[in-house]
Amino acid sequence: MTRQVTILGSTGSVGQATLDLLRRAPEGQYSVTALTAHSNLDALCAQAREFRPRFVAIGDERLHGALKAALAGTGIETGAGAKALCEAAALDADWTMAAIVGAAGLPPTLEAVRRGKTVAFANKEALVCAGTLFMRTAAEAGTCLLPVDSEHNAIFQALAGQSMDQVRRIILTASGGPFRQSSRDAMARASREDALAHPTWSMGAKISIDSATMMNKGLEIIEACHLFDLPPARVDVLVHPESIVHGLVEYVDSGLLAQMGSPDMRIPIAHALAWPERLATSVERLDLAALGRLTFQAPDEGRFPALSLARQAMEEGQAACILLNAANEIAVEAFLNGQIGFLDIAARVSDALDWLVHSPFSGHPVSSFEDVFEIDTAAREETRRQIGLQAAE
Ligand SMILES: NC(=O)c1ccc[n+]([C@@H]2O[C@H](COP(=O)([O-])OP(=O)(O)OC[C@H]3O[C@@H](n4cnc5c(N)ncnc54)[C@H](OP(=O)(O)O)[C@@H]3O)[C@@H](O)[C@H]2O)c1
Repeated sequence: MTRQVTILGSTGSVGQATLDLLRRAPEGQYSVTALTAHSNLDALCAQAREFRPRFVAIGDERLHGALKAALAGTGIETGAGAKALCEAAALDADWTMAAIVGAAGLPPTLEAVRRGKTVAFANKEALVCAGTLFMRTAAEAGTCLLPVDSEHNAIFQALAGQSMDQVRRIILTASGGPFRQSSRDAMARASREDALAHPTWSMGAKISIDSATMMNKGLEIIEACHLFDLPPARVDVLVHPESIVHGLVEYVDSGLLAQMGSPDMRIPIAHALAWPERLATSVERLDLAALGRLTFQAPDEGRFPALSLARQAMEEGQAACILLNAANEIAVEAFLNGQIGFLDIAARVSDALDWLVHSPFSGHPVSSFEDVFEIDTAAREETRRQIGLQAAE
């Protein structure tokens, strides 16, 4: 039977990797229901012409006229704006890839989750922001949430359906990013290009910067706690520069199960696409003899404070996690725009967590998605103010 697939964020790195797998899959196995992008009109139109979805949505409303004109005569319906992204997610696909970057992905991802089908989950910021509310929504809808982040996908595979009582801890590996061996002084001088030059993975700009600060691993600790229902103390991080072992599960008998593969997102995406079966891919196979050896080291939380900031946020509660994520998104954008230095990213996140204590949100329970959006908006405004940026329109 043909599986109907929707990709939220189809023009991004994960979105394109997903389409690449569909392009090479056996004829008739998958068909595309909807595709979405934010502003990359040309890429979205090219994808729409190739994959012939029923609906395409673009986040930036100003581009709707151009999108309609470009797809005139194809029979493909179009929409624009935040509402249209949710409309795309609400269509009756069997499998949805949630690959929008940032908290902006939360509303459409939730829409997909509420339909009770399968959601392949890459948009970690949505889970960091909405935490247990998000997981509860998925459980109530009966949604099958499949982790796509390579580390979480590895853990999911290494758990192999075992009960969590049998698990002592899980370990997320980290490449260490481009500054793994750099001093704080060198990091203070790092340019945009230095920080974007990831040594092993090819990814979108925001996650590349998060990898360089190691905030990506911090967000992943929070993501793992929610996905696998574990306290932060049972989620460890191990730096592994080769990015071959993606995640490990340590069982109570002290045995470890790991999942390995080339650093290519098509492997975890293929796993989620075919689950519970497997999809043959042409991704480069590992030659362990040629690799010779794999290395591991403990993370240096002194040089990479983002890791302890994420643990601090997790301990302080959901409002702090929303703040951590929002401040990080604003600070990363400011760094990419040349408005702050590399080390300022974690510093601004730390300021945001300090601000929380004196803010109206201190001790505020996060009991609805409206609370999530309210705290997210306030945290963004506060971080912009601290950086000296204009308030958002
Ligand atoms: N890349 C990886 O290897 C990787 C691995 C693990 C997890 N992830 C996670 O997967 C997610 C996507 O990462 P990525 O690297 O694929 O990002 P990316 O290359 O930057 O792509 C992001 C996608 O989201 C769209 N988008 C951006 N801002 C949006 C907004 N405000 N509203 C709606 N859509 C928006 C983009 O559209 P435009 O192209 O039009 O801007 C694009 O389609 C992130 O949460 C990341 O942490 C990525």
